[in-house]
Amino acid sequence: MDIAALLAWLEASPLAASIRNTIVAFPLVESGHVIGITLVFGTILVIDLRLLGLAWTRRPFSLIADEVLRWTWIAFAIAAVTGALMFITNAAAYYNNWYFRAKMLLLVLAGLNMVFFEITDRRSVLTWDRQKSAPPAGRLVAAASLAIWIGVIFLGRWVAYAPAATGPPPGEEVDFEKLEELLK
Ligand code: HEM
Repeated sequence: MDIAALLAWLEASPLAASIRNTIVAFPLVESGHVIGITLVFGTILVIDLRLLGLAWTRRPFSLIADEVLRWTWIAFAIAAVTGALMFITNAAAYYNNWYFRAKMLLLVLAGLNMVFFEITDRRSVLTWDRQKSAPPAGRLVAAASLAIWIGVIFLGRWVAYAPAATGPPPGEEVDFEKLEELLK
């Protein structure tokens, strides 16, 4: 199956159709996405500021990481599932949207940045755990992580304003009369 056929198949799936055709579904899923994103960014911010020696410096890094990172993974799962649910409603348009592609690329970079940390300073954590900040590689990872995640958020927001995304927003055009009736 080529990529165009796969995208068309995703868009035509009953799940995608039901999200498109239920007036409150897309905003609900998008709200879930925003909750996931805020938790991902918030928890990563705690880790990165600790690595940079800018906050929570009196607590060992490993203690903070153990407590916080499990929430990062839960939040990332929420963001990924809700993101995928929105994606399938208009798969071809998202796939061809450069902001969306750049956002996905940055998500991959965020993963590679994390792997780099795991194979460098994280291995020697016991030698710097109680120090104010991480060694240079850890601080570089933290600064890159902040830049990457801020980039992901900007690009995520920009997806809706890409030149190709003119016309109705993803999903069916909003029927304001029906919406008014629902809100009565
Ligand atoms: C933690 C990682 C992620 C972050 C920080 C993020 C960030 C964002 C942001 C800021 C928005 C705009 C929300 C709004 O204005 O209401 C957004 C929308 C969106 N995201 Fe994500 N996202 C993430 C993961 C994903 C993933 C993994 C996918 C796809 C598999 C995805 C697909 C989408 C889609 C389809 C939209 C709707 C775009 C639109 O039509 O405006 N996101 N994301």
